Amino acid sequence: MRDKQRQILVTSALPYANGPIHIGHMVEYIQTDIWVRFQKMRGHQCVYICADDSHGTPIMLKAQEKGTSPETLIEQMKNEHERDFNDFAITFDNYHSTHSKENQSLANSIFKKLNEGGHITKRVIKQLYDPEKNMFLPDRFIRGECPKCHAVNQYGDNCEVCGATYAPTDLINPISAITGKKPIEKESEHYFFKLHDFEENLLKWTHEGHLQNEVTNKLDEWFEAGLQEWDISRDEPYFGFKIPGTTNKFFYVWLDAPIGYLASFKNFCEKEKLDFNHWCDPNSDIEMYHFIGKDIIYFHALFWPAILEGSNLKKPSAVYAHGFLTVEGQKMSKSRGTFITARSYLNHLNPEYLRYYIAAKLGPGIDDIDLNLDDFLKRVNSDLIGKVINIASRCAGFINKRFDGQLSPNNHDTNIQSEFANQSEQIENAYENREYARAMREIMTLADKANQYIDYHKPWIIAKQKNSDNELQSICTTGINLYRVLALYLKPVLPIIAKNTEEFLNIEPLNWKDAKTTLLDHKINKYSPLMTRIEKEKIKDMLVETKENDISKN
Ligand code: MSP
Ligand code: ZN
Repeated sequence: MRDKQRQILVTSALPYANGPIHIGHMVEYIQTDIWVRFQKMRGHQCVYICADDSHGTPIMLKAQEKGTSPETLIEQMKNEHERDFNDFAITFDNYHSTHSKENQSLANSIFKKLNEGGHITKRVIKQLYDPEKNMFLPDRFIRGECPKCHAVNQYGDNCEVCGATYAPTDLINPISAITGKKPIEKESEHYFFKLHDFEENLLKWTHEGHLQNEVTNKLDEWFEAGLQEWDISRDEPYFGFKIPGTTNKFFYVWLDAPIGYLASFKNFCEKEKLDFNHWCDPNSDIEMYHFIGKDIIYFHALFWPAILEGSNLKKPSAVYAHGFLTVEGQKMSKSRGTFITARSYLNHLNPEYLRYYIAAKLGPGIDDIDLNLDDFLKRVNSDLIGKVINIASRCAGFINKRFDGQLSPNNHDTNIQSEFANQSEQIENAYENREYARAMREIMTLADKANQYIDYHKPWIIAKQKNSDNELQSICTTGINLYRVLALYLKPVLPIIAKNTEEFLNIEPLNWKDAKTTLLDHKINKYSPLMTRIEKEKIKDMLVETKENDISKN
């Protein structure tokens, strides 16, 4: 069973095209990328899919504000997003857009199937309408007084002061956030997805191990409250796909967004000659995983499986939710100067610092994780520079200078080498179960042992003794081999260091099974530093840039 090659489709949530990628987003893309890289190292066929989420009112309004078309805006944003991801070493197998021909045709055919199955209904509803802008107002574009606690300037769907949720028509003295005008109530016909048709199936599915326990418990509360029909249409003006058979109705962005996973995958299948229908077949043994943030569980654990069920497509093998990133213990915020974009980070700091820090803090659950900048600096410098990289730099010099880069044919200590190799299954399980913090702890325990080994044998002293060449060469050879296994175990998290290590060691790309082998009687290349320490100044510079960005945008 262990060696059977799995076929795995993995997604991260599709980032909205109306804003930049920030370090909060990066938690998710780093978490997923680590998992995908791990699966690939294990020899599985794993395809990592993503796309920009390009539709909806905010994107339409943003384009208007910038005096451009939504098409131009989403194109620019997609380029920026892809550049950010690439510079964080996130390697999607395909990055597409929800505004694509594949997505339009899939959305249409899925809607058709749901409609034919009797799962779509139409009904006239009343909504708030901006009489100046001539458009219906989404909840977040309405502000007013909370009907419960009377706090002013609250959003149309919930109060940030008392936490009440309500309908926008309940707000006292509502105004349009776009024009500041008083909205009027207006009727319009909407399309609804009958979620409750799937209640029984969903209840079963959510208790079958596809979700984390805490997520299942949350869903149970929603089941108890009763599943509501879901409004999947929007009136014009809207940036999205027109609903077939209508002239002025569009699919709500959240209908075509998850379909965008499949559309991006379809686009990939066409390029790579994979059988899309087989991969979506409910009876195939393909695995499909969605990595998401805890704020979008409802969409992924209820609507999406119901839509897939209703259109006879494969449901996810699992949905993995994670918590939110806070900075210095608080929600990221522009006014506090902690809304750090991916680009501001990259302008000053090495992407692998953050990849490691996040891995070191991530568990399999939905707890929030905090970026504390002092802790970040200490942790990365002490673990990566002080422990891991240190081993390579302590041994490489002797091998290069004294032995012309040649490793000894003898391993000086096969016990410690086996101890390292024997940790492979433990660490493997930790990665597989998204227990990255545990994996990092276990790897750092090994790194401590490797440093103790070197401290004990003191190659710098042996180097000064007579007739000590063999001993010196074999001790440093063991040191290099221990480092090699650490770099291998860390490869899903630190792919750039791994690649430079492979070059330095003059070896083929490391795979998981290589942990059990040793590199002997082999010529390595010259060592150059694989990573440098985080400097406090660089963190400060990043925060200064963050503040400046926020001021210039307001
Ligand atoms: N477009 C939707 C997803 C559609 S998926 C079919 C969306 N986009 S988003 O840009 O707001 O968020 C993208 C992902 O980043 C989501 O999973 C979200 O939970 C995650 N995060 C956004 N801010 C985050 C933090 N501060 N911390 C951790 N994850 C965060 O939602
Ligand atoms: Zn309130």
